[in-house]
Amino acid sequence: MAQERIAISIGGSILVPDNEDMSYIKQLASTLLDMLPVYKFLVVCGGGKIARYYITIGRSLGADESSLDELGIEVTRLNARLLITALGDKAYFKPAESVDEARLASNSYPIVVMGGTHPGQTTDAVAALAAEKIKATRLINATSVDGVYNEDPKANPNAKRIDRMTFKELLDKVMYSKMEAGSSFIFDPLGAKLISRSKIQTAVVFGRDLLQLSNAIKGQQFTGTLITAAPPSSSDAPANSASPSR
Ligand code: UTP
Repeated sequence: MAQERIAISIGGSILVPDNEDMSYIKQLASTLLDMLPVYKFLVVCGGGKIARYYITIGRSLGADESSLDELGIEVTRLNARLLITALGDKAYFKPAESVDEARLASNSYPIVVMGGTHPGQTTDAVAALAAEKIKATRLINATSVDGVYNEDPKANPNAKRIDRMTFKELLDKVMYSKMEAGSSFIFDPLGAKLISRSKIQTAVVFGRDLLQLSNAIKGQQFTGTLITAAPPSSSDAPANSASPSR
């Protein structure tokens, strides 16, 4: 039976926030390894605050935006190497440097890990492109927030999580995000366009909650936001609606 291919964008803010990172990375690795007989994974690692640190220093040294992006890409690849180390020999031995390399490597390895590829985007866009290339069943955006909110939940504690939204609603939300090296938004606008054009079902989950992450990978109920082509109808209970933690 063909394995389902899943693309995962895992934020650097989840992988290396300097909070029990070693044990989290180990648990993440074993969560993915445990699902291997059924799934194949392409994991794209973000840069998080380490990337932002380098970008801030580089900017104050006078670097142009695309050179700052290159600094960010280097850090995402460094984070990818950490995850590869935890995954052992089930993973392609190095961060793939392009989505084509990732696709080729995924023919021989059950897990391929990579970071960024080109300036002017973030790893969410890389994950969306990779999801297109490997014909992923779904894309999981494992991030520092447990879903997409109507307002920034870090700024407004009364912000409400949106349990389910359409690609168009996501596009409307992210279209006017600021595009500069190191800027942070719930989903990269380019990534949003890519998942929209290829209709790749996308789940946004809090990446440190490994139960929700694996539920989302399996297409089961999860706490977070499910992004699909069609709006939910009243007779159509969202796949993620019955989560106990809501
Ligand atoms: P991230 O994808 O980590 O961005 O890339 P982020 O929004 O900070 O995500 P979190 O915090 O990890 O969740 C870090 C930086 O690296 C550059 C960009 O400057 C980005 O802001 N980058 C990354 C690229 O230029 N191209 C890429 O393909 C990936």
